[in-house]
Amino acid sequence: MRISNTPIAARLAALGVELRPGVSLAEHTSLGIGGTTDELLIRRYETLPEVIRDLKNEGVPYKFLGGGTNVLVTDGELPWIVLHLPSTHPGVRVEGNAAFVDAAADLGGTVTYCAKRDLGGMEGLIGVPGSIGGALRMNAGAYGTQIGSYVREVELYRAASGENETLRGDDIRFDYRHTSFAPDDIMLRVKLELPPNPYQEIVAGIRVCNEKRRASQPLNQKSAGCIFKNPQGASAGRMIDELGLKKLRVGDAMISDRHANFFVNAGNATCDDMLRLVDDVRERVKKAFGFDLENEVIFWKN
Ligand code: EPU
Repeated sequence: MRISNTPIAARLAALGVELRPGVSLAEHTSLGIGGTTDELLIRRYETLPEVIRDLKNEGVPYKFLGGGTNVLVTDGELPWIVLHLPSTHPGVRVEGNAAFVDAAADLGGTVTYCAKRDLGGMEGLIGVPGSIGGALRMNAGAYGTQIGSYVREVELYRAASGENETLRGDDIRFDYRHTSFAPDDIMLRVKLELPPNPYQEIVAGIRVCNEKRRASQPLNQKSAGCIFKNPQGASAGRMIDELGLKKLRVGDAMISDRHANFFVNAGNATCDDMLRLVDDVRERVKKAFGFDLENEVIFWKN
């Protein structure tokens, strides 16, 4: 969808919003799949309510893109524009045991920044790609750690009120790869409270997690991490592996030979290739094990 040269583009420019025309989402997502659209870079979080009000008044559909590491985007000319908060570095400020982090900050960078200030707890999240905002929305977790455990406050754009608001951590539900945020809420900033620990000890924990991840996951291939959630009491990866489906492919969409719940883009995979592979595997798992696998990756189909 294109909004350059329209009155709304001029109004957004006056608000300090940068319009990038014709951005390929294949270049902005870890799967390397996705069509083209205009992108708005929102540098000042406080302008978001006004930007979104304007888009709604003009009937311009939009989606919000965070780090792009957990999303599968449809191909071709996309029927919505994309909003994005440009990444901030480091985007973290530490005060005592608290870390105040911008949603656009890199998750791994935040873990390291806090570690250097003797604040730990998030070692397990070190290799999880993506932004702090995406990690919050999905309650990112690995190796027994989930980010939700450390959240004390979240500043966000709330779709329901159309305003930026601050929520207390206790008022947010963080479940397995699921949170009580509305789908169109947009994370802006978070206050984390982290357990103090000497840097050297945190680094030792980080090394262990990095090694486990390197040994079991295809880190050098284009993927969105695990494609399915684990059903209660079962492992999606193990079931797919037991069915002998590693390396199964549709076009260039392929099941990793290292971890069967990672579906990789082995070349020029299209969204359709990936969806066909996902549907095929879901059916096979249902037939063999009786589980209805739920997507962990978010699909932007229309
Ligand atoms: N397994 C196999 N074959 C495979 C993959 C796994 O037999 O191809 C077995 C493993 O040997 C292990 C069990 O399945 O006994 C579980 O595997 P693993 O420890 O790799 O964990 P997982 O449940 O597959 C989850 C998260 C990962 C996270 C790891 C480490 C989900 C869907 N996945 O994977 O998160 O990194 O634990 O904590 O919850 C993600 O969210 O995108 C993600 C990759």
